[in-house]
Amino acid sequence: MLAGRRILLIIGGGIAACKVPELIRRLRDQGAEVTPVLTRAGAEFVTPLSIAALAGRAVHQELFDLTAEAEMGHIQLSRAADLVVVAPATANLMARMAGGHADDLATTLLMATDKPVLIAPAMNVRMWEHPATRRNLEQLLHDGIATVGPNVGSMACGENGPGRMAEPEEIIEAIARHLGAGPLHGRHVVVTSGPTHEPIDPVRYIANRSSGAQGTAVAQALLALGAGVTFVTGPAQIPPPRGARVLQVETARQMRDAVLKALPADAAVFAAAVADWRIENASGSKLKKRGDGQPPLLEFAENPDILAEVARLEVGRPRLVVGFAAETDDILVHATAKRLRKGCDWIVANDVSPETGIMGGTENAVTMITEAGAESWPRMGKDAVASRLAARIAEALA
Ligand code: C5P
Repeated sequence: MLAGRRILLIIGGGIAACKVPELIRRLRDQGAEVTPVLTRAGAEFVTPLSIAALAGRAVHQELFDLTAEAEMGHIQLSRAADLVVVAPATANLMARMAGGHADDLATTLLMATDKPVLIAPAMNVRMWEHPATRRNLEQLLHDGIATVGPNVGSMACGENGPGRMAEPEEIIEAIARHLGAGPLHGRHVVVTSGPTHEPIDPVRYIANRSSGAQGTAVAQALLALGAGVTFVTGPAQIPPPRGARVLQVETARQMRDAVLKALPADAAVFAAAVADWRIENASGSKLKKRGDGQPPLLEFAENPDILAEVARLEVGRPRLVVGFAAETDDILVHATAKRLRKGCDWIVANDVSPETGIMGGTENAVTMITEAGAESWPRMGKDAVASRLAARIAEALA
């Protein structure tokens, strides 16, 4: 995916530098050329020797290095790349970048470069949340610098919260996006995800158990292949994918409006668990017990079928419309009929019978139904299903 792409990789001094060897290995697996620059603090965490061995080229460390300057001046070095990546970007490095310092090789390269810069911040949660870091981040974003992460989780210092450096694969996805690499570059895909909430009154609603996991994984896999993704999500339990344009909705009708507004798209994937019905007589004020033992009578009305509506658009229909179908019996028969009924191109069907452990689990076993027939995929992780589906979408749009 990154064949021939040149990355100038500045390694800052934080414990997350330990993940950088893996990042370099994976970048090279993808065909990228990595030129490493190690800050003085960075060299306390990883050795120049191991970084040079993995990158397959010399590590640059000092600003005033006559040998290095004779081979390639630092101005040239700052421009002989397609993208400059800073990982880990420590609080100190971010502060120096935001302040325009140029007091070592790394910051001088960052000042001298004319190439886009992507940083992967990593620091203790308090440092990340400190007003000075907030200010510096705002400045860096204002200066056009892109970020990936940090993630929320446990840290080497024993604390928990935002501050963990993004994982190597997330950094690579961000790099690919910034370089406009990947087979879906330039394509726009709309993905729906999560449940919908249908109000009963201002404080109560009807919902379902969808977590949004499969939809988020699909969006992430599409982003990884370079697609621009509009992620239309109901109130899900997990955070939306980074890098997508996120439209938060609550009800099925809001989801429909958001999807139609997000068009045109090259493809649309409908992974949301949309409520089939809404409450027609939802109350504008909180329903009270009446004291006569009579419960309120709820009247239901059918919600729009967003998938079917988009699949049948005469003008502006995405080239590829993909639906999901969760079934408990006769999967093949029901899903095949659903594909025809809804007018979509593909249905990704899965068996959600309790004994499969798929619902709420991390794995999925799906059958892809297309015009050509049915195709069963082996049982695999939901992320792997998403990657495979994204690859198929890329093939179909090629
Ligand atoms: O009809 P059923 O809910 O089984 O269909 C599942 C597929 O249709 C999913 O792709 C789902 O996202 C989509 N759908 C929709 N709008 C609805 C109901 C389902 O987009 N109102």
